[in-house]
Order: sequence, then C-alpha cells, then structure tokens
Amino acid sequence: VIYLDHHAATPLSERVQAAIADAHREAWANASSAHAAGRAARARIEHTRRALATHLNVQPADLVLTAGGTEACNLGVQGLARGGRVVTAATEHPAVLEAAHDRAVILPDALEELLQPEDALVALQWVNHETGAIAPVEQYARICRERGVPLFVDACQALGKLPVDLASLGASAVAFGASKLGGPASAGALWVERGRQLEPRIVGGPQERGRRAGTLDAAAVAGFGAALEALPTRLADQARLATLRDRLEHACLALGAVANHPHARVATVTNVSFQGWRSEILVAALDVEGLCASAGAACSSGVTTGSPVLAALYPHEPWRAHSALRLSLGPETTEEDVVRAIAVLTKVIRRA
Ligand SMILES: Cc1ncc(COP(=O)(O)O)c(C=O)c1O
Repeated sequence: VIYLDHHAATPLSERVQAAIADAHREAWANASSAHAAGRAARARIEHTRRALATHLNVQPADLVLTAGGTEACNLGVQGLARGGRVVTAATEHPAVLEAAHDRAVILPDALEELLQPEDALVALQWVNHETGAIAPVEQYARICRERGVPLFVDACQALGKLPVDLASLGASAVAFGASKLGGPASAGALWVERGRQLEPRIVGGPQERGRRAGTLDAAAVAGFGAALEALPTRLADQARLATLRDRLEHACLALGAVANHPHARVATVTNVSFQGWRSEILVAALDVEGLCASAGAACSSGVTTGSPVLAALYPHEPWRAHSALRLSLGPETTEEDVVRAIAVLTKVIRRA
C-alpha cells in the first residue's frame, strides 16, 4: 500500500521497534519498584524524559509522561483550567476542544479581542492536524502573558515538523504525542512550566510527581525515546517533503480540487476538496486502489458530519468540509509513492 496518512500515525522504524522489543524483554517490571527489575524499567523511562527535555530545551522534572497525545492534551487543558472558562478555537483537535467543560470557541485571530481577565486558560494548537497551518504561538504567548492568563499549546503535530524550543516560547504547558513522530501511540508527554499548579486527571498514586498516577508502559516510553533520536533527521527531511507534497497537491488541483490551505503551513500535508465527492466515499475508493488517505482527523473517520476544521475556516462554502481529502507525508514517503498516489487519484477521480 501507499501510506499517506502520517498526520494520523507514523510507521515505527526498525530502531523504534527494537527499542520496544528490548524493553518488553528487559524492562517489563513496574518502574516504581525499588529492585533491579524495577530500576531497569525506570532507567528506560528516565532516558526518554531526559532526551525529550533536551530536544525541548526544558528541565526533565517538568515533563509529565502520559499514554499518548490525547491524555497529554486532556491533562493540560483540564489540569490548568480546573473548571474555569477556556478560550479555545473551533479548529482545535477534539482532544483539546472536548476537554474544556466551559469554553469560548473562537478563531485564533480573535484571541486579543475575546480574552477576558476572568478566563482560566487559553488552549490553542501549534500546527493544525488537517491543514498543517502553523499558528503564531509566540504571539499567543505574548498576549496571554500580558493578560495574565496561562496558555496551553497542543504541539502534537509540531514536534518533528518544526523546531520546538519551549524555553523561548513563553507558554505555560505544551502537549506532545509520540505517534506523530515515529513513536508508538501509547506514549506522550506534557511539559508544564515550573511552579504552575496542575490538577491531575488520573489519580491513585504518586507517579510523575503526583501529576499523573498509574504505572507507565516502559516499553512504549522507550519507543518514544528511540523515535526522538531521529528528530534531527525528520527536521532535515522537511524540504524534500515539501517538494513531494507540492507535486501531489498540483496533481489534485489539476484533477479539479481546490486547496484548503493556509499561508503558513508545515511541509507534510496537503488538504484539498473535490467538489461533488463525499470524503468518506473518496477515501474508501482510494483505499480499494491501495492508497491510505483520510478525510481529516483519524478519530473522526467514519463520521459523516464533515470536517469541523474546514467548516470553521470556510463557513460560506460548506461543501469543502464534506469533500475534503487529507494526504500527509513522512520520512518514509518516497518519490515513487507520490507518483503512484497521483496515478491512483487520477484513476479514481477520472473514473467518476
Ligand atoms: C493536533 C493533535 N492533537 C492531539 C492529538 C491526539 O494525539 P493521540 O493520537 O496521540 O492521542 C492529535 C492526533 O491526531 C493531533 O493531531
């Protein structure tokens, strides 16, 4: 198959698979146990924590490891908002949007006008999962600092695609998921600024300095650590991916699609709409021909309500949200994949 759904999940490299298998063999014990077997599991976890801290330019102790990006987002939003009003955007991932019990939903451009002094938290993403839009997070951080409201940033789609330096960002908490950068889906992390109160979501133990109870899966965390080793290579690959992505996008436009993309975006994704098509039918037709693609967020695949992101971005052209196709690339994507994907797209669209 041709896999063009890297924004949903990334393949595990041999190295990541080996790190996970090794931890399953050697580090299966409870990482809180004081004995040698427990210490072996703890060592894998702390190695990943240190590696992630180095990449993010933060202190390891300020990282809470989680079982994925959604958990990190839930913890960041609910742990900081503590029941207060959250200012967030209609274009956010459901992991953030649905975590805010009381929320004001905006388009991020409106942050400055809509932010109220009584707001408990601003929760916005760095890179959009559907369009690849890069948000001006430094600007959000400045506005939030000026107004004295903490900022949570969902960086699940940013790490591995953009340089991420949290020391200079100025956010209060930032979430990551391993499955978007070559790691397993069951590992993630939340960075929280020193001194910031975070109410745990999962309770029942002192793990992660009381911020996230429960035994971590040392094998998944080890896989995350191995994936982090390839981050510099991932970043260095972005220019190549932009060229391949543009080729793919031009082919879609030549087949009659319109592009749903913002001005500033990452190299790994094109999002287009084929008027007259339903996303789910197009994605299924491509799947039959061996092309794995998506209509938008994988967690809403099979849902026929259309993309909430595109509905928010194009309120006057609702058809875009119902006929969207997201093609996303990663380091494993080759020129041959793109050539074959274009052939499949041409066959499926022309046949209709
Ligand atoms: C922007 C964004 N936030 C959060 C998540 C949730 O991450 P996970 O799949 O690791 O739970 C995703 C996954 O697609 C995402 O794209």
